[in-house]
Amino acid sequence: MKKSIETERLILRELLLSDAEGMFELDSNPNVHLFLGKKPVKAIEESIAQIKNIQQQYVTFGTGRWAVVLKETNEFLGWSGIKFITNEINNHKDFYEIGYRFIEKHWGKGYATEAGLAFIDYAFNNMNVEALYAYADEGNKNSRKALEKLGFRYVNSFEYEDELEVWYELKNPNAI
Ligand SMILES: CC(C)(COP(=O)(O)OP(=O)(O)OC[C@H]1O[C@@H](n2cnc3c(N)ncnc32)[C@H](O)[C@@H]1OP(=O)(O)O)[C@@H](O)C(=O)NCCC(=O)NCCS
Repeated sequence: MKKSIETERLILRELLLSDAEGMFELDSNPNVHLFLGKKPVKAIEESIAQIKNIQQQYVTFGTGRWAVVLKETNEFLGWSGIKFITNEINNHKDFYEIGYRFIEKHWGKGYATEAGLAFIDYAFNNMNVEALYAYADEGNKNSRKALEKLGFRYVNSFEYEDELEVWYELKNPNAI
């Protein structure tokens, strides 16, 4: 994968260990984790381990979540990007999934949509991925709205880790 992507307001780049404080601010907030299993992190070491895990995904799969940074201030806003998922979810295995998570004070500014559009473009036109998938907690209205703005289609609801989840799909129009 290339090293960074620029959009109107954002820089998208691989996560670095220097993002640990931002990642901790993000993942220690219970509001951020409301629809993510309600298990916010308690110590920065967990965020450091998370970054290392994602960096290993870059090596193994050539993709993984990236940092989303505000171009104007170089501020860490959160992450987005394409993850390769190898375990089985909703009868799918070995698929590319789009996701996003932002520090609460940066919600409601359209960053999920702006970053998402850039990652879809990259996945379809550079990685030649046939389809992208996404899933969210059924009640996660903000996430579902963002997915629908990105052009994803609701496919079905399913149970995963004791929660009711919704499954979305976006096919690559260039795929044969
Ligand atoms: C879900 C989440 C990523 C959404 O992020 P977001 O950046 O607020 O989402 P969007 O890109 O849809 O933007 C939201 C609003 O910003 C508004 N906005 C403000 N300024 C804007 C601008 N300059 N350009 C575009 N939209 C703008 C939009 O109108 C949009 O509202 P609308 O959907 O009513 O039209 C965020 O709430 C989050 O991190 N939640 C916690 C983690 C989580 O649940 N992740 C998803 C797991 S499946």
